[in-house]
Amino acid sequence: MGSIKKFFKPNINEAQVYSPGGILRLLYQQRQDWVRMMSNESPFEPSPRVLEAVEEAVHKANWYYDSDFVELREAIADYIGFEKERILVGNGSTELIDMIFRGFLNSGDQVILSDPTYPLYSIRIQVADGKSVIVPKILPDYHWDIERIIEATTPRTKLIVVVSPDNPVGNTISENEMRRLLEQDVLVVLDEAYGEFTDKTLTHLAKEYDNIIVLRTLSKAFGLAALRIGYTIAEQEVIKYLEKIKIPFNVNYIAVQAALAALSDKEYLEKVKKEIAKGREYLYREISAIDGLETFPSQANFVLVKITKPNVTGTDLEWKLADKQILTRKYTGKAGLVGEYVRITVCSMDKNRKCVKALQEIMRE
Ligand SMILES: Cc1ncc(COP(=O)(O)O)c(C=O)c1O
Repeated sequence: MGSIKKFFKPNINEAQVYSPGGILRLLYQQRQDWVRMMSNESPFEPSPRVLEAVEEAVHKANWYYDSDFVELREAIADYIGFEKERILVGNGSTELIDMIFRGFLNSGDQVILSDPTYPLYSIRIQVADGKSVIVPKILPDYHWDIERIIEATTPRTKLIVVVSPDNPVGNTISENEMRRLLEQDVLVVLDEAYGEFTDKTLTHLAKEYDNIIVLRTLSKAFGLAALRIGYTIAEQEVIKYLEKIKIPFNVNYIAVQAALAALSDKEYLEKVKKEIAKGREYLYREISAIDGLETFPSQANFVLVKITKPNVTGTDLEWKLADKQILTRKYTGKAGLVGEYVRITVCSMDKNRKCVKALQEIMRE
């Protein structure tokens, strides 16, 4: 018998396992009473309508339910302004990201990513046996380099991925820039996981272009991260194609009922959006005023903080905040980011204040 590894596919064997949270992961799991500013979650518990719907739905957990999710697709269609035939739901948008790469990439096909961006993308491309082509964003504000993305587009390019607002910077691509990418002969993924927090989303471009695949989620503004509901909006032919990859019952009945309830509560959503905008503005203003820290303007539910004080690293700041029971995420040495950073998720105002106070104390040391 040789090594059991001879049965492994090299592209999967060489892929990393995505680790939400790196070294502080155990603390994230065990210290649920600490201030959670590390995972871009909503700080608010779901709408009371969701709690009620979940309680009721669990009594029907013995059933197989509709695997086409017609009712949910109708509700999403209503919310987002597209026909239900142009919508596919997934177990979080993460499942849809995976389905897109499995569906469109042949071995060695290229996908253009702009670093820094959401690190899950390059891992899922590798697992699908594709090749990430990284076009670095432009310093100092890490904006997309549209010219270089277009230059990098070759006959081997299947997809361009744009995350907007991007994670971890929080900035957005402009509509004109997006249009220029959509004019290329490739598929363009537009990940708007944080779309609810922006002044203006670009989802509407799916009404004009047949090569755009928009990704949205109920994990962020709707506060359903643990229930795993995401969706994609694309040309009907693309949806029909992706449906062939989708496993039956990929989203569970309880989550579907929760999503229906969440989408019905517009007042809740507006309140969350307002609170996050207020908290973001507060964090941006107060953290920017601290000596040794700089903050990037953000359109998402987090702010990226750059450490400009010599000899203080992202790891130092992450751990010093954890000493004060505040969990954040360091971004040091991560693809394309030059310097030392910590990403901080916007929380409720009392927790935002606690975080600012902690940062003021730490940076005075
Ligand atoms: C840019 C981006 N896309 C997608 C996701 C995944 O979201 P979901 O919970 O819908 O799988 C995240 C999660 O943090 C994200 O930051």
